[in-house]
Amino acid sequence: MHPTVGLDRSFKPNTKVVALVCVVCLVPLIAGQGPGVDFDDLHRTEEGIYANKDRCFCPGVGGGCFGECGKKAYAAELASSENFTYGRFEARLKPSVEVDGILSAIFLFQNDSARLPGATWEEIDIEIHGMGSHGREPIQTNILTGDFEKRVETPEFFAAPGIPDDIDAQTNAVKKGFHVYAIEWTPDYVAWYFDGERLRMDAPCEAADAAGSDCQVHRLWEPMNLRLSVWPTDPELVDPDWAGSFDPAELPQTIYFDFVKVYDYNYDTKDFDLRWIDEFDTLNTTRWEMGIHTFTVNYAHFRPSNAALIKSSEADGDPQSDGSYLALSITNKNDEADMRSSNLIR
Ligand SMILES: *[C@@H]1O[C@H](CO)[C@@H](O)[C@H](O)[C@H]1NC(C)=O
Ligand SMILES: *[C@@H]1O[C@H](CO)[C@@H](O)[C@H](O)[C@H]1NC(C)=O
Ligand SMILES: *[C@@H]1O[C@H](CO)[C@@H](O)[C@H](O)[C@H]1NC(C)=O
Repeated sequence: MHPTVGLDRSFKPNTKVVALVCVVCLVPLIAGQGPGVDFDDLHRTEEGIYANKDRCFCPGVGGGCFGECGKKAYAAELASSENFTYGRFEARLKPSVEVDGILSAIFLFQNDSARLPGATWEEIDIEIHGMGSHGREPIQTNILTGDFEKRVETPEFFAAPGIPDDIDAQTNAVKKGFHVYAIEWTPDYVAWYFDGERLRMDAPCEAADAAGSDCQVHRLWEPMNLRLSVWPTDPELVDPDWAGSFDPAELPQTIYFDFVKVYDYNYDTKDFDLRWIDEFDTLNTTRWEMGIHTFTVNYAHFRPSNAALIKSSEADGDPQSDGSYLALSITNKNDEADMRSSNLIR
């Protein structure tokens, strides 16, 4: 969508520079010339990348931004400790977020591939926009390939199928209800689904190959982790045309996962075999690594305690509810009262 907005690509990547790119990397980069960016507040390092002196700087190869980075909010991300090569990845989710600048994400990502020199960036996304300019088509799909120096991405936005194509109807359906989102990733295609309806399919590459053009599907072949997250965009660093301008006064915000299902790709049948279901009756920390990082354009820092299991009664409005949910929250750093402490079952 915003492949190169604001980021000067003329410099050579090196370890320091590379480490500045976000881990999620769903982001329409970055400071520099986006509206509202104060250039005096940014400085250019020797390597040439813009970084805000007062903000988190991410040193070291693959280090992300760990530790205290001066972020003003907390958020949560879970990453599967297992890596997958192909499969079907499903999550039943209620974003419950109707404000600008917040993304609820289910994505596959080859750890560190956005940051390590020489690595090929591999990422497949579903992101539900809180609001911003995509209220009518709140479901963003994307593939990211290329590398840190030259990112290739193919974002496409969708309205929830079968629901009127206007902001109110889409908001009611997508933000206030539970729906099953799925990504299918095979050697031959990538497809995205909403409640079993296919939104998009990036077809086999043969046609593209024949036409001599690039095909992203063939560039996704290394193992990836499955990740679940919610995060606020930094309003000073992210172009508001993408997701809208985040306002910290809108915190707290919480998204709810009912279950996640992972299927293996079966090369013989070209279908999918169930590998596991996680219904979040417990928080399986063998399965899920809790994020303790952040990235430049994220207004928040991920921390484990912003992920909690809650009783179904809290994730109201779910007729299928009979157990517990994974709740991922964004909270103001100085307001612990924001944390959802009631009904915690963990
Ligand atoms: C990703 O890589 C970092 C090191 O850069 C490591 O600490 C973390 O455990 C990895 N996460 C996953 C999910 O593999
Ligand atoms: C996932 O892959 C990374 C490197 O690609 C490796 O370090 C890690 O051990 C793998 N995780 C599992 C659970 O196999
Ligand atoms: C936790 O996750 C691991 C890895 O997916 C799995 O082997 C184990 O059975 C899970 N434990 C429970 C209690 O579900």
